[in-house]
Amino acid sequence: MNFSDVVKARVSCRSYNGKQVSEEDLGKILELMQLAPTAAHYQAYRVRATTDLDLIAKIGEIAGQEERFAGATAMIVFFAVPEEGAERFGDRARDLYSIQDATLACAYAQLAATDLGISNLWVGSVDEVRVLEVCGLSKDGKDGLGLWPVAVSLFGYTDEKLARCGRKKLEDLKV
Ligand SMILES: Cc1cc2nc3c(=O)[nH]c(=O)nc-3n(C[C@H](O)[C@H](O)[C@H](O)COP(=O)(O)O)c2cc1C
Repeated sequence: MNFSDVVKARVSCRSYNGKQVSEEDLGKILELMQLAPTAAHYQAYRVRATTDLDLIAKIGEIAGQEERFAGATAMIVFFAVPEEGAERFGDRARDLYSIQDATLACAYAQLAATDLGISNLWVGSVDEVRVLEVCGLSKDGKDGLGLWPVAVSLFGYTDEKLARCGRKKLEDLKV
């Protein structure tokens, strides 16, 4: 697919059929994810990429979106690393850049998945403390730079024809 076809094909998927996403494809998604831009190239994010169905189900429960997680066979949790770059940018790194880095990584991962024919869903509605807990991670991170889950992406396959929802008029987005 060319770039605009990929962008047009990405639609949130809330109904997965259980078909396994291969480790090879998950690896390809991570490789493209890593090409996302990051503030001052600090790469102030980390990921937990998994095909562990138990972990996927646990995070679905935390999100209170069990039925949407059912049948998804891969997941990436994106963590901001608030202190990475904070010695240079202070609160701007803590409160903005690290979150933007993780967010962009998630967006790239979803487009990479779409290009491979893998459906996906961005899940933002999660209790961050409980996500850290089930991932077996501390909010300080192992290097003390901090670790804060800001996005989860599900991956899998669907039997459904996914419908695109409408958008605001372009004019209304202009300020
Ligand atoms: C920051 C963010 C958080 C989101 N959280 C959820 C969520 O918790 N559950 C869900 O079903 N969809 C979630 N979505 C998906 C949006 O609902 C979806 O992207 C939007 O409705 C537009 O639809 P589309 O992705 O099909 O274009 C989230 C998307 C973003 C960017």
